[in-house]
Amino acid sequence: MTDPATTGQRPLCAGVMGWPVAHSKSPLIFAHWFAETGVAGSYLRLATRPEDFAAAFRALPKAGFRGVNVTIPHKVRALELADEASEAARAIGAANTIRFDPDGRIFADNTDGYGFIENLREGAPAWNPAAGPALVLGAGGAARAVIHALLEAGAPAIRLANRTRGKAEALAAHFGPRFGSRVEVIDWAARAAATGGAATIVNTTSLGMTGNPALEISLAEAPAPALVADIVYAPLETPLLAAARARGLATVDGLGMLLHQARPGFRAWFGADPAVTKELRRAVLEGSG
Ligand code: ATR
Repeated sequence: MTDPATTGQRPLCAGVMGWPVAHSKSPLIFAHWFAETGVAGSYLRLATRPEDFAAAFRALPKAGFRGVNVTIPHKVRALELADEASEAARAIGAANTIRFDPDGRIFADNTDGYGFIENLREGAPAWNPAAGPALVLGAGGAARAVIHALLEAGAPAIRLANRTRGKAEALAAHFGPRFGSRVEVIDWAARAAATGGAATIVNTTSLGMTGNPALEISLAEAPAPALVADIVYAPLETPLLAAARARGLATVDGLGMLLHQARPGFRAWFGADPAVTKELRRAVLEGSG
């Protein structure tokens, strides 16, 4: 019997582990890239209960999987279970892209911050993260990746505002050992004033998502070169982005982050470098898969 995990004859198979996972757009992204690159791969939704996660995760390399994406609620556990992790995954404290090596070792990466920055660079080529502080709204899991990516990209300071101030303080403390006092917590009530002088303004909360209230913030103080980004992508133009556009500020929507964060996985598992194109955006927006 040959062992598909060690012979190098592993099938071109990956997937996404989540609970729930039915809403995941990742299978649509991978289906588009399989068609475009000619890679004859499979990418499956793997509905995995939290209590079953460790066993299922450890079993996948033995079933020949080349890797997986992990999403809510498994991102922290996946990092804990890995043998090795990238600097980004360790700094963020969570993983979303896992590589199973032929020798059985499990490597964890986090590409959310990479996807966030790639999307901004593509959507606003003139944007310079080092030109001024960034205002980050929200202190959940997505904020961790966004803050890490902005700091790595050279943002001189992060002004962090969250409805629950204690969560923002915990995040600032998390980044303190590596980034010193570059993450400054501000009151949620002071968020509009904190747009003053900002090079980057980012919503990482769920406000503005279909079915949720809008993020209320005046952009009157935001300087003309500021870039306003939202990680919400349903709707594509959130009330925040509409208000920014009305003021003549540059804006970038949240869909590109989702698309770009998937690229490193495709590269690592299937050896081809797929592109984020208009056709991919359309396929993901229209797809029901
Ligand atoms: P994710 O992992 O996607 O970031 P999360 O961890 O649930 O999701 O975080 C959601 C973020 O949206 C939090 O910053 C949350 O603020 P709290 O920490 O105070 O809960 C923010 N959020 C959700 N609903 C909000 C609301 N009505 N007003 C302000 N912030 C809100």
